[in-house]
Amino acid sequence: MHADPDAAESVAGSADPDGADSAAAVAAAVAAAVEPVLAAVAGAADPEALRTTAAAALGRKGALSALNHRLGGLSPEDRRGAGAVLNEARDRLQAAVAARRAELDAVARAARLEADRLDLTETLPGPVRGSLHLVTQTRDALEDTFVGMGFVVAEGPEVESDWHNFAALNMPPAHPARSNFDTLYLDWGPPESALLRTHTSPVQVRLMRDQPPPIYAVMPGRVYRKDTPDARHTPSFSQIEGLVVDRGITFGDLAGTIDTFTRAYFGPGITSRLRPAYFPFTEPSAEFEITCTICGGAGCRTCSQTGWIELGGCGMVHPNVFAAVGIDPEEWTGFAFGFGIDRLAQMRHAIADMRVLADNDLRFTTQF
Ligand code: PHE
Repeated sequence: MHADPDAAESVAGSADPDGADSAAAVAAAVAAAVEPVLAAVAGAADPEALRTTAAAALGRKGALSALNHRLGGLSPEDRRGAGAVLNEARDRLQAAVAARRAELDAVARAARLEADRLDLTETLPGPVRGSLHLVTQTRDALEDTFVGMGFVVAEGPEVESDWHNFAALNMPPAHPARSNFDTLYLDWGPPESALLRTHTSPVQVRLMRDQPPPIYAVMPGRVYRKDTPDARHTPSFSQIEGLVVDRGITFGDLAGTIDTFTRAYFGPGITSRLRPAYFPFTEPSAEFEITCTICGGAGCRTCSQTGWIELGGCGMVHPNVFAAVGIDPEEWTGFAFGFGIDRLAQMRHAIADMRVLADNDLRFTTQF
């Protein structure tokens, strides 16, 4: 409630009807003027309302100042008494205004503090980070396993010469085994001399040419075949191959290495077995199978009820390959093995269709 200046004026003007004003009359007018102003000050809702109320009572044209004018009409005696009453009223009002201003300031400060508050316990989500693709993760895990077994990791180019990809691997031009590899040739140099490597075996050729034995290495990388994409084939996929060349290496070392790897990578309960096969670059050759990871060997649809699934190929390095790279097969023997990384990830995570590995669909890739 605001003090009404007109009301204050009328109080200030209420002198005795006979014209002889008195200290008592002024004191009564002061009391009558002050009480509503005190109430208005205490009820001022904000600093602006308080300022208006204070000005109406205490300002130059305010109620008290009007009462002050009446002092002039009093006897010196009465003037002193009424003046003291007026001064005391002014002091009370000023104190009340100051007290209310302090209250309103405190409320405003509290509101400001609340609005500015920093919640230091709040945790914001960090920037969203991507993750490695499932095939990359699988490749890394395979590398780790083989490095733990004493192998080094070697890489080579994806564009290869016919010699590295085929001829040095005991597949001279027109060798029938070449037709097993649906090769993508490049229009570069003499016809069919440059190609996208169909397997990572040419890295073995490069290693054996570049350094003398002993060699204990794995070669992961991307390879290409002119396959029509389907649930189990994509024209580009990843392989990892292994090569060991040393003195006195036997087929037993090959079987033991594959089984050690199988247990280390897949965990206890998964073992391996070898079945006779043919590859031009190894002799004897084998396919290696591992306990079906889906059924644990009991037999299921994935393993055609056999309890085993084929993982890759392996064998003892063919003497013709040693001859091509200049290693004496009388002094050195060795073995090689290789399998598909995508196929492994597919088996391990029961991925029905291999094409999702290349689709770049976040609904798939973010699962790993
Ligand atoms: N390079 C062969 C392939 O891609 C796999 C393999 C590697 C077989 C080493 C035997 C020894 O089919």
